Amino acid sequence: MRHTLILVLLALVFPLHAALAIEPGEAVALPPAVTSGGMPLMEALATRLSSREFREDPIPDQLLSDLLWAAWGVSRADGHRTAPSAMNNQEIDIYVVRADGAWRYDATAHALVLVTTQDLRRDAGMQPFVWKAPVNLVYVADYGRMKNLPPGQREHYASADLGFIGQNVYLFCASTGLATVIRGLLNRDAMKGKLGLADDQHVLLSQTVGWPAAE
Ligand SMILES: Cc1cc2nc3c(=O)[nH]c(=O)nc-3n(C[C@H](O)[C@H](O)[C@H](O)COP(=O)(O)O)c2cc1C
Repeated sequence: MRHTLILVLLALVFPLHAALAIEPGEAVALPPAVTSGGMPLMEALATRLSSREFREDPIPDQLLSDLLWAAWGVSRADGHRTAPSAMNNQEIDIYVVRADGAWRYDATAHALVLVTTQDLRRDAGMQPFVWKAPVNLVYVADYGRMKNLPPGQREHYASADLGFIGQNVYLFCASTGLATVIRGLLNRDAMKGKLGLADDQHVLLSQTVGWPAAE
């Protein structure tokens, strides 16, 4: 009983990925997302706003799991997601940029794949709050998954698809008391290089998520 209590306390203090030696390319499963409950939709819409003052406290794995599922998780047995995408191309990837590195969200496995152990928050934005907030979601469009659309229209469709994901994050944050702001101000070239993206992959926007600074 005492050992169990100590293990539970350790798990709370040290999230799973921190306790294991994870190499780039390896995945860490997220806890299953809680896909029920939350604030009534109309209240979440009325509460949604952009915030630019964050505390540095980390976001627990369970809340991150729920956030990513709400943002862009697999919601149906046929692989469809919580946000629409043109021709169901599902070209957007979410990278979770934190102090412990950058992780790609694998929605099918509901897992985080380690990309780099570097803290890329300095490249995730020019506004100082970005550098200390616990999570910055970096949204990347893979035009290689959009070959069924004319090249000149890919940016247009990818931007629209990303808008739905960003709003999912806004509504989830409104519902859970997290603060967030979607941002176009980020260092796309540095981020592309440090994430090791291919030519066809384009960094679009970033979205900071964290706890609101105390008023
Ligand atoms: C595409 C896009 C890019 C944005 N870029 C930034 C940004 O770089 N930095 C920032 O602080 N806010 C950014 N914002 C947030 C807007 O400034 C914000 O949504 C707007 O002021 C309206 O406020 P509200 O979201 O609270 O309704 C961006 C919003 C969008 C939709």
